[in-house]
Amino acid sequence: MSPGRHHLQIPGPSNVPERVSLAMARAVIDHRGAEFPELTLRVFRNLAEVFATRHPVLIFPCSGTGAWEAALVNCLSPGEKVLVFETGHFAALWKEVARKLDLEVVWVEGDWRRGIDPQIAEDHLRRDPDIAAVLAMHNETSTGVTSDIAALRGAMDACGHSALLLVDAISSLACAPLPMDDWGIDVVISGSQKGLMLPPGLGFNAVGEKALARAAGATSRNSYWNWQAMLDNNRGGYFPYTPATTLLYGLDEALAMLLGEGMENVFARHARHAAATRAALAGWGLENVCVNEHEYSNSTTAILLPETCDADRLRKMILERFNLSLGIGLGRLKGRCFRIGHLGDFNDLMLAGALSGVEMGLELAGIPFRKGGVNAALRFLTGGEA
Ligand SMILES: Cc1ncc(COP(=O)(O)O)c(C=O)c1O
Repeated sequence: MSPGRHHLQIPGPSNVPERVSLAMARAVIDHRGAEFPELTLRVFRNLAEVFATRHPVLIFPCSGTGAWEAALVNCLSPGEKVLVFETGHFAALWKEVARKLDLEVVWVEGDWRRGIDPQIAEDHLRRDPDIAAVLAMHNETSTGVTSDIAALRGAMDACGHSALLLVDAISSLACAPLPMDDWGIDVVISGSQKGLMLPPGLGFNAVGEKALARAAGATSRNSYWNWQAMLDNNRGGYFPYTPATTLLYGLDEALAMLLGEGMENVFARHARHAAATRAALAGWGLENVCVNEHEYSNSTTAILLPETCDADRLRKMILERFNLSLGIGLGRLKGRCFRIGHLGDFNDLMLAGALSGVEMGLELAGIPFRKGGVNAALRFLTGGEA
């Protein structure tokens, strides 16, 4: 690997700011001691603000997959139906988790280039009053497509359906607006390693009243993931088992950074970097996996290469030559696309560096493209026309 810093531009884990790293470089304290709630009660409060909810946000020591499972095993019972949309690789993985937990999956196929169609959702819900929950990806990280969750909620309301709405915000929390309470979301699922700028290791379930009420009567077996045990302990600032103390120090600092910047500013910063990335893409004459403009992602851009090109070879060359890690094509997009993550602790020059590495790599790999994408992005960033 070449000297100098590594450029981590995958769509999460994202770069951990120095402030967060330093906050974690502290001695571990007693998680049952008197001083622990001072940290955790502040974290719970600030976390709820970032989730835009007055409901509790539960913190599990786990990856995003664990947070998916936690949501399913608390508010659903084996044999219940869940409606899931094939937006991409992560939707397919969540569906498999549901299936393994003996939920009956109603799977709406998709082409991995579009978000959830609210009309199709409404049609399914009208036909099937037994659907117990709708599982929706907000940002599908494998494709860089963001679904319109407010419109999905509108579709559920239009047919007066009582299904719960569970939303995966693993790569959209603190990147794009998802006001949980205003949009009537019952459970928001997220993780630490993307917009929250932390290392991997924390999973979140923000839990609304309707989901909690369902949980009281649900019969899926669970122990580690039990919401009620977590809630009972959290009330005093504690956990039912040993929490990831060091990551909580980091979370405390990351939340202070985000709220200090202001969530609207955080979203605007992400939207601007996403738009600059798309300006580069247009300049290169390459194709965005996301086909609908209103579904462009604030956190991830997936770039489709011509059929004859190998995106994995391109990524490998870019890593070896420029010490720049780009996101891999996942599932059915393997080898067909690469992804640029523009999320978390990120600024204009980091983006300029990443785009420069891509443009040089495209040339070295002999990919058919037009030069000038980087210039288009720089013009965008300095306020000129892309
Ligand atoms: C949108 C989304 N959901 C779920 C997951 C799975 O999370 P994890 O790999 O942390 O288990 C990811 C991982 O990148 C993701 O991007």
